[in-house]
Amino acid sequence: MIGFVIIMQKKIIIDTDPGQDDAVAILLALASPDELNCLGITTVAGNVPLNLTSKNARIICELAGRSELKVFAGSDSPMFKPLITAEHVHGKTGLDGPILPEPKMSLQDKNGVDFLIETLESHEPGSITLCCLGPLTNIAIAIDKAPKIITRAKEIVMMAGAYFEVGNITPAAEFNVFVDPEAAKIVLNSSVKKTFLPLDVTHKLLVTKAQIEAFESFGTRVGKVVSEMLKFSERFDKQKYGSHAAPLHDPSVIAYLLKPSLFSGRFVNVEIETESLLTQGMTVADWWGVSGREANANFIGDVDIEGFFNLLTERLAVL
Ligand code: BDR
Ligand code: CA
Repeated sequence: MIGFVIIMQKKIIIDTDPGQDDAVAILLALASPDELNCLGITTVAGNVPLNLTSKNARIICELAGRSELKVFAGSDSPMFKPLITAEHVHGKTGLDGPILPEPKMSLQDKNGVDFLIETLESHEPGSITLCCLGPLTNIAIAIDKAPKIITRAKEIVMMAGAYFEVGNITPAAEFNVFVDPEAAKIVLNSSVKKTFLPLDVTHKLLVTKAQIEAFESFGTRVGKVVSEMLKFSERFDKQKYGSHAAPLHDPSVIAYLLKPSLFSGRFVNVEIETESLLTQGMTVADWWGVSGREANANFIGDVDIEGFFNLLTERLAVL
């Protein structure tokens, strides 16, 4: 008897602030067309200002040979506070490292927030997964403008927060949540299913020298660009953490969609601190179930490191 494996293609929207690790996440998604159908990319201000994240997203689509994809610029600043960027990690352009051409694709005229609302409204309820790789401003503004749309999303999978690892941009907060804590709170309080890929996971995904050499050994443009980007962004983290290798954050979101069995976590209560200046942006995850508060999110705590890098290497090699 012949057995068939039916792979259901997931419809996704990638919301992002590239960033070298966002770029690798986008490449991983675009290298996986059997499983993921990317309906569009929305950009947000985060690692660098919006004009650069919008340009970088198009550069990466072209690098993947996917210039037909649509990129929509979203919010240029957080909901209530001034923008904080991370050029100290990602460089002036956000994609420092390789020499990259100006994109030829144009940016769509529609705002990213409107694209999110219209796309969720026009597709079957429960059919679109939002993959969030940056501050959650676009998603929160979409919820604010059209509260019902979020009930139409299948799930939000986001690189956000930290519990045991606590923080990377402040002692208490992870960058994406810290940049726009109010937006993160709106998303958290919405009824959609939520999965967090926090620093607890991404700090285990260290890009070793051997891994960078594996990318180089593809002998492709993508392999070269990825290795040059990661060599650039690792120098700051290696110094900061005093480690031999730097963490890779955002591709964990896409890997989770492709192979959830690589990850494990707990369904727990998560709350976000928006008031205290000391701990603003902190994700308070009730890992031990001591608060009595209702569980509201899937908080991932562990990852099969080898399985993750095998998946990433195997997929990027085909681009
Ligand atoms: C997150 O912050 C950004 O610098 C990275 O792109 C990632 O999304 C990690 O805290
Ligand atoms: Ca990011």
